[in-house]
Amino acid sequence: MDLFDATADSETLTRRADELLGAQRPGAARALLAAAHRLAPPAPGTASLAARLEMHEGRPEASLAVLGQAIAVAPRADLFMLRADARHQLGDLAGAVADAAEAVIHDRHDPAAKALLGVLVLELGRPEDAVRCLAEAVDAAPANPAFRQGLANALLAAGQPSAAAATYAAGIAAAPGSLELRNAAIMLAVRQRDFANAVALAEAACAVGIADASTFGLKGHALCGLGRHEEAADAYADALKLGPNDPTVLRMMVAADIRPDATRAPAAYVRRVFDGYADRFERHLMELGYRIPGVMRNALRAHLRLDAGDVSGGEGPGGEALKGEAIGGEAIGGKPIGPVLDLGCGTGMVAVALIGLKLGPFVGVDLSPHMLRLAAAKHLYAELHESDIIDFLETDTRQWKLILAADVLCYLGALEPLFTATYARLLRGGLFMCSAEELVGPYIGNGDWVLGRMGRFAQTRNYITRVARAAGFAVRAIDAEVQRNDAGAPVPGFLIVLERAHADG
Ligand SMILES: C[S@@+](CC[C@H](N)C(=O)[O-])C[C@H]1O[C@@H](n2cnc3c(N)ncnc32)[C@H](O)[C@@H]1O
Repeated sequence: MDLFDATADSETLTRRADELLGAQRPGAARALLAAAHRLAPPAPGTASLAARLEMHEGRPEASLAVLGQAIAVAPRADLFMLRADARHQLGDLAGAVADAAEAVIHDRHDPAAKALLGVLVLELGRPEDAVRCLAEAVDAAPANPAFRQGLANALLAAGQPSAAAATYAAGIAAAPGSLELRNAAIMLAVRQRDFANAVALAEAACAVGIADASTFGLKGHALCGLGRHEEAADAYADALKLGPNDPTVLRMMVAADIRPDATRAPAAYVRRVFDGYADRFERHLMELGYRIPGVMRNALRAHLRLDAGDVSGGEGPGGEALKGEAIGGEAIGGKPIGPVLDLGCGTGMVAVALIGLKLGPFVGVDLSPHMLRLAAAKHLYAELHESDIIDFLETDTRQWKLILAADVLCYLGALEPLFTATYARLLRGGLFMCSAEELVGPYIGNGDWVLGRMGRFAQTRNYITRVARAAGFAVRAIDAEVQRNDAGAPVPGFLIVLERAHADG
């Protein structure tokens, strides 16, 4: 069919343009929309399409303008929903919630409006309200997997994991072809350490042919949890057939020690997880009671004898004088102690926690471009580098007075490469301060480091001490420190302070 049909009216052209946008042909859609506008003045239908075109082409501000005019003439639920989306993209969460609420008011029977309102109020930190909205959306459209997923997310945020699991089960019964719901249900069972149920859910998915690399990977992970390692290896092999480079599957295999050469989370996995998580990261960590930046601040003040806004020399905590080329040496002159390298700097929470201490300049390294963008916006780093931390230490030959790594060792299993590379880049008398989660059984792995709950590695105190000494460090402290909460329970771990001695031993 010709794009431009001389006999077509404005409504037909708009409908065709909509189809073209759905077929990912925005240029053609825009041309037809212009033709529709020439035939008739803009109407709500054309405004909706124009707004979606702007959004599709990455211009939420333009979309907002189109919608503002259209809503003034015709306050329709679909237009409010589109404007909620545009406002959300522009970071105006309160405005987005207000528009989603208007959409519900204007069409009380539209489950999509209720679901959108639920998802947005969840983001606003009101999980109970979100549960109410999303439950109504699910009641109205029981076979919609996205509504079920939203409801399960809200129930989890409201601390109701069993209700979330029940939502998945009902969702799978209503929409048996939804791979998304099946994998989410398996993931939830794994997280709750209900490995037998996770295996059963994965097998049910395979039985109806609704499975991908993640389904088999999660099945392998659950089988490992049950100690059924040979079957786990088979499941991982199936997963790799479906997704040979799937980073999540590769990481699960590392965790299971099934690839003995692999001793850490793959870089692609870390990048993908944190790029997707960056926007929620700081708020989520606050909710979890993440303590390490503050713990590091206190430890630095103690170990470097720093007072906020002031730097004094003197003795280290072990009684040894910090003099000459030692870290404390420059402090006497009031010069900031640095340079400071922040490994796995993320969004820069550590640099924020250290504001007011005479430390710097700060240089940050991270694998995730999105985390780095948020760190850059804080203007606390002299340089930021997108790199794997070990690659960076092995290729950038600068020497540092202080190297920090907060909540990063949990993405490495074996610590030998990091500790060796860090030692080589520290100035004599320099400090390496990092945090680690403590390996507490039961676990799968080698007894030194393992993948703990929630897909993070944990290490033992003995192992950390052994690797630090083997790399050449003097161990100043390995203090027990709760890292944050996980499902309401404190996550035990350490704050580790290592020193490169003035003279190599
Ligand atoms: C849990 S966040 C901690 C961020 C920050 N240090 C803090 O305390 O807020 C872990 C960060 O380490 C980064 N990361 C993990 N493994 C890494 C690696 N091998 N190389 C570079 N960055 C890594 C992740 O991208 C993420 O930004």
